Amino acid sequence: MGSPLLLICSISLIICSFSLKEATAGVSKSTYQKLSSGCDIFAGHWVYDESYPLCNSSSCTFYNNMFDCAKSGRPDKLYLKYRWQPTCCDLPRFDALNFLSKMKGKRILFVGDSLALNQWQSLACMIQSGAPAPHTTLVSKDPLHSFLFPEYGVNISYYLSHYLVDIVSEPTGRALVLDSIKQADVWLGVDILLFNSWHWWIRNDDMKGWDYIREGNMVFKDMNRTLAFLQGMKTWAKWSDAKVDTSKTTVFFQGISPTHYRGIEWNGRDTETCRGQTQPLLGSTYPGGSLPVVALLANVLESMERPPYLLNITTLSQLRKDAHLSIYSPRGGNDCSHWCVAGLPDTWNLLLYAALFF
Ligand SMILES: *[C@@H]1O[C@H](CO)[C@@H](O)[C@H](O)[C@H]1NC(C)=O
Ligand SMILES: *[C@@H]1O[C@H](CO)[C@@H](O)[C@H](O)[C@H]1NC(C)=O
Ligand SMILES: *[C@@H]1O[C@H](CO)[C@@H](O)[C@H](O)[C@H]1NC(C)=O
Ligand SMILES: *[C@@H]1O[C@H](CO)[C@@H](O)[C@H](O)[C@H]1NC(C)=O
Repeated sequence: MGSPLLLICSISLIICSFSLKEATAGVSKSTYQKLSSGCDIFAGHWVYDESYPLCNSSSCTFYNNMFDCAKSGRPDKLYLKYRWQPTCCDLPRFDALNFLSKMKGKRILFVGDSLALNQWQSLACMIQSGAPAPHTTLVSKDPLHSFLFPEYGVNISYYLSHYLVDIVSEPTGRALVLDSIKQADVWLGVDILLFNSWHWWIRNDDMKGWDYIREGNMVFKDMNRTLAFLQGMKTWAKWSDAKVDTSKTTVFFQGISPTHYRGIEWNGRDTETCRGQTQPLLGSTYPGGSLPVVALLANVLESMERPPYLLNITTLSQLRKDAHLSIYSPRGGNDCSHWCVAGLPDTWNLLLYAALFF
């Protein structure tokens, strides 16, 4: 009885014992260099940590108040208290001053939909609550929004692009053009680029922003959206390989951010959603399994000449059914797609920080 489980545990103990030795050697930079090269920081589980959260939204400038759940009246606080614990190493602590001084004179640009916005907003908040009252300027003009930290010359920006590829106004309507990415050239030249896309590709409402899909001379009233997404990402990948100078720019791709509208995925009731959830799932695997698009996207990225660093947040975010805005946003409704800040996106940024500097 229980022996398969015991076997799994002892195997993982053996695997981990190597890096644990390094981890106990002290929290030096070299330790983490070894750890990040040898350790999968995206495999792990959530643990309660009294010292969390990493940022406090009450000390942050928000672009809008969409993600500030505390301000929108979210009463429970436990969701702020979970730290991501990789199986085989420890993550560094986020040090806002260290981040600013390493980034001195540099630019970071998040490009994508509101999940990139979510992460950009969180990073700005982590810096504002971690550094001693830095002077912050927010410059906002669609599609570009920038947090500037003038004492450090650091510029952290967000460029809104739901699909990454172009939407072109034509006499017959708005075309989502799968093989055109002309808008992208304004993203070049920064030090760190982080992209994302997906959620808008599966929308069917009037908000989706296009009337038909075009690829070359072929026009489609509609098509398999997963395939459309993959074509779009291949166009992005070609652009990135051809145009991004990776000796100057580090490129990240944010993994697919999951939603929580179907309780059945986490062995909950069929009608259950993220609403009223106050705790994460405590294992390392999501009962509902992976999303098919995750592997397809990974294939596109891996086939690149110079693949971006995949910020593989999918599984760790699937475990956080408790971390969504739900009803605590100025927009109303029950949002099980976006995430509270402070909250889960702070961990995405902690992982970004670990990937960049350790
Ligand atoms: C992302 O991380 C999860 C959890 O560790 C893992 O199962 C998955 O294979 C990873 N995906 C990629 C593309 O590396
Ligand atoms: C955030 O800061 C405010 C004001 O300093 C404080 O009252 C509140 O408890 C803090 N929230 C968290 C979650 O630490
Ligand atoms: C901040 O960076 C963005 C993106 O690279 C750039 O377009 C913008 O001009 C910069 N803002 C300032 C004030 O330097
Ligand atoms: C769309 O294409 C994907 C990838 O080939 C496939 O797995 C999926 O079943 C297709 N969806 C539909 C509705 O045909």
